[in-house]
Amino acid sequence: MKPLAAGNWKMNGLKASVSEINALKDSLDGAAPACDVMICPPATLVLPLADAAAGSAVQIGAQDCHTAVSGAHTGDISAAMLKDAGAAAVIVGHSERRADHGETSELVKTKAEAAIAAGLTAIVCLGETLAEREAGDTLSVVHAQLNGSLPGGATGATTVIAYEPVWAIGSGLTPTADQVAEVHQAIRAGLSALTSAEEAHSIRILYGGSVKPSNAAELMAIDNVDGALVGGASLAADDFAGIIAAF
Ligand code: PGA
Repeated sequence: MKPLAAGNWKMNGLKASVSEINALKDSLDGAAPACDVMICPPATLVLPLADAAAGSAVQIGAQDCHTAVSGAHTGDISAAMLKDAGAAAVIVGHSERRADHGETSELVKTKAEAAIAAGLTAIVCLGETLAEREAGDTLSVVHAQLNGSLPGGATGATTVIAYEPVWAIGSGLTPTADQVAEVHQAIRAGLSALTSAEEAHSIRILYGGSVKPSNAAELMAIDNVDGALVGGASLAADDFAGIIAAF
C-alpha cells in the first residue's frame, strides 16, 4: 500500500499560510512523492488550501467533524461541509480532542462513520498516556480505543488509523522502534479480528508523535508503519518536505 504523510496543523495557521501549501507543492514538483501527502489545517483554511492545492499531489483534510450532517449545533462543522469545502479526509479522536473535549471512543466511531458517509477518509487516532504506558496498559488501552472507535465496515479506502502515544506528542520524545513495532502489530491484529485479514492489510496505520525530518526514515522503516501523522513539523513546508523525502 502507498504510505501517507499527513500534517496536522492543529490550531495554527492564517490566510497567509497558503504560502506553505504553495511551497510544499513547489518542493514536490518534478518528482512524484513516494507517499500520499495531506495537510489538515484548521477548518477556516480548508477551502483556501484546497483551492491552492487543486491539481497537485497535496490533499487537504480537516481535524474534526460533527456526527450530524446539519442542524442546531452552534459552532460545529459537519463532514458534508468539510467535503464541500474541498477536504478529502478528516482526523477524528485526536488525543487532544479526547482530553480537551471529553470525546469517547463511542463518539469518535460515530464521527468516523459520519465522515465516511460524507465521502471523506476517516483518520482515527489512538494512543496511550504516559501513566498508562508505565502501568503496562498500552496494548489494552489501544485495543479498547480501536474496538470502540473503528467505524463499521472500515476498509483501506475509507479508514486510516493513527497511533499516537500521548506522551510523544509535541514532546520531542518518541517510543523505541520495538515499542512502535509492538503496538502497530497489535493494531494490525486487532484490525484483522474486527474486519478481515485482507482489509486489515489494506488499512494504513500511521505513527504520530514528534516525527521530524531527522527521525522519519527510522520510524517509517518499522514493520506495519504505513505513514506518519505530523504536528509541529508539518507547519513549515521545508520540514514537512524533509519528512516526505524519508519515504
Ligand atoms: P507532533 O504532533 O508531531 O507535534 O508531536 C503530532 C500530532 O498530534 O498529530
